[in-house]
Amino acid sequence: MIIDDNDTELLVAKKALEKQYRIIDINNAKAALQRLAKSTIMPDFILLDVAMPGVNGFDFIMRLKTSEKTRTIPVLFISGDKENTTEMEAYRLGAVDFIRKPIIPDLLRKRMELQADVLEYKNQMNSYNNQLQQAASFQARNAMNLEYFIIGIITDLISQKDPYTGMHTICVSKYMEILLKEMLLSGVNYGIDPADFELILLSSRLHDMGKIGVPDAVLSKTGKYTDEEFAMMKSHTTMAANAIQKYAYLLPNNKFLYYTFQMAKYHHERVDGNGYPDRLAGANIPILARILAVADVYDGLVAERSYKKAKTHEEAYNIITQGAGVQFDPQVVAAFQRVHMDLHDAGTVIETQMQQNMAMSQQVMNQQPVAGTQAAANTQQSQVAQQAQQVRENIKNRLLNKQ
Ligand SMILES: [Fe+2]
Repeated sequence: MIIDDNDTELLVAKKALEKQYRIIDINNAKAALQRLAKSTIMPDFILLDVAMPGVNGFDFIMRLKTSEKTRTIPVLFISGDKENTTEMEAYRLGAVDFIRKPIIPDLLRKRMELQADVLEYKNQMNSYNNQLQQAASFQARNAMNLEYFIIGIITDLISQKDPYTGMHTICVSKYMEILLKEMLLSGVNYGIDPADFELILLSSRLHDMGKIGVPDAVLSKTGKYTDEEFAMMKSHTTMAANAIQKYAYLLPNNKFLYYTFQMAKYHHERVDGNGYPDRLAGANIPILARILAVADVYDGLVAERSYKKAKTHEEAYNIITQGAGVQFDPQVVAAFQRVHMDLHDAGTVIETQMQQNMAMSQQVMNQQPVAGTQAAANTQQSQVAQQAQQVRENIKNRLLNKQ
């Protein structure tokens, strides 16, 4: 696009360039602005006169640069003004070149060619950058999916070996989420990067992965452990840590690995130094392990097992409160006390969901396969929904009675 109020100059510039470029020539800057506003295709370049009546070249370029649609169009000024200050002002406002009148066609073509080369180079760089960004985001997504994949497989294997641990993993991860959020919102910096929130929760799901290596007879034992059995049980922390360490060289400086290691190894440490495996005390225990310890014990207390009755929420609350400064970090216990009802409610939701899933599965298993009409499927679904509602009511009543 060439904009010049002087028709003769406009014609000279047009003639010089029309063999190589498709030209839009306009002798009025205001009309050019209107045309750009309406148009969906932008010119590759604008050649612009400086001194024009009404909207002059500097007004024009300022409007061009403030609009998202037009701000990247390269502007070359053509001007009879001999003042260096005018040229400086043109560059300050974003011009890519300043060509002095009278126009010499060969020179104008050469300057345009140079700018066309620059533009092509810029476009190539942009396209290369876009490709790089796409490749990077694809790789990041893949890496994240790989983490989900590994966690899925490990938790699945643990669940098959020991269904309680599978359920426990889901609950602990949820309690960890609530406690971690509360601690991050409390305004005290515990050295936890809030940007890693999701990653930490993912990692927390692997805290008991070492149980894959504990013999079934020990895992499923309902009575009291012998010293030897207890040692085997305790080794789930070090087995996980050793497994991670063995392959850590493959992923240097990887946060997922780092968090998983901290939580898997140290979630049974106690702040009084009487925990395991390393008898670490106080702040020597990584903060994530100190938070996970509360989530872990809370679930251990309120969850029902074949070998033990579940404690009520109130009993669990009291046990954790009494453990402040002994078994647990007092700051984490304080956070627990602030959000304990959220843990209680989350536990109820998970339990309800599991009951619903079980009711659904039971219903599907008991149902005779009917040559499937939509009506039959709908009836089945509504029966299951009613049963699930009943289950929800039962749990609610039971919890109310407990408290
Ligand atoms: Fe554990």
